[in-house]
Amino acid sequence: MTFILGIETSCDETGIAIYSEQGVLANKLYTQIELHAKFGGVVPELASRDHLSKIFPLLQEALQEAKITLQDISAIAYTAGPGLVGALLVGATVGRSLSYALNIPAIAVNHMEAHLLAPLIEDHKPNLPFLALLVSGGHTQIFQVNKIGDYTLLGESIDDAAGEAFDKTAKLLGLNYPGGPKIAKLAETALDKYHFDIPMKQGLNFSFSGLKTATANLIHKEELTDENKKSIAKAFQETVVNTLLYKCKKALQETNINHLVVAGGVSANTLLRTSLQDMLQKMHGEVFYPKLEYCTDNGAMIAHAGFILYQQHRFKEDLAIDVHPRWEM
Ligand code: KG4
Ligand code: ZN
Repeated sequence: MTFILGIETSCDETGIAIYSEQGVLANKLYTQIELHAKFGGVVPELASRDHLSKIFPLLQEALQEAKITLQDISAIAYTAGPGLVGALLVGATVGRSLSYALNIPAIAVNHMEAHLLAPLIEDHKPNLPFLALLVSGGHTQIFQVNKIGDYTLLGESIDDAAGEAFDKTAKLLGLNYPGGPKIAKLAETALDKYHFDIPMKQGLNFSFSGLKTATANLIHKEELTDENKKSIAKAFQETVVNTLLYKCKKALQETNINHLVVAGGVSANTLLRTSLQDMLQKMHGEVFYPKLEYCTDNGAMIAHAGFILYQQHRFKEDLAIDVHPRWEM
């Protein structure tokens, strides 16, 4: 059996998981959301310190749950970027040192590649080539996945990422970080009152900063009653979702591909999930999502990506503990 230990510490979630031929054997997560909530965003130094205090207890729990010991581990995969440098360094230091001590390979995983591959954790998998929409706090990208490890970037945000736009708009509405789920909740019981146009329709790139400004202007203009807040959240969410739909449809048509995977924190959004499902059904295609727990940051997607890289012998050759805060895929 191959047992891959996965370590995720790129932002505000400490994730430790174990993946084998049988799938995810353990997936332990500690989220720092509460720690950062009062600051309105992630405080990097606090994040690093907290990862350090949680990483070993989670490792112990994961080994127990998988019913294995450290000696059974075949390789250690850790997130080496992109992300916060100090936070990444915690996972990289533990991952690289432990693999050295155990005399097993280390695998430096790209966090975005791990998100992209997360839908493949499920039994029902897309056919190659497929398109991938990556929507997280830092990224909004459409890739053509020719094969694993061979990705063509078709479009990306030229300014704010979709998740970032959710978070900033939420802040203006007086909601805590992370704003995505809170905006979605507000929108559930909202009345239709406002409308925004899809920004930047040409090409396959995205731009969300204009929408953010339009929303900010509306927030400053309107009386912020509970009802108005809900309606603003609804209009904002619908516009982000419609924009993502519009660009995905265009990319699918232009490439003549009909399988789409969607990953990253924003892929947890229910409106996005159901709308894409409808759209792909109409296009005689299919959309693939990770399970909700594998949408936002987690260790399982790192262990899973590590498992694939392990089979391809893509090991970290040197002993350097280096990370890549801006690592492009
Ligand atoms: O992938 P992720 O956990 O961390 C990054 O790598 O960035 O994504 C976090 C982002 C945040 O911006 C958060 O607001 C957004 O994902 N998010 C959502 C939802 N859940 C998380 N956005 C919209 N709707 C959601 N349900
Ligand atoms: Zn992420």
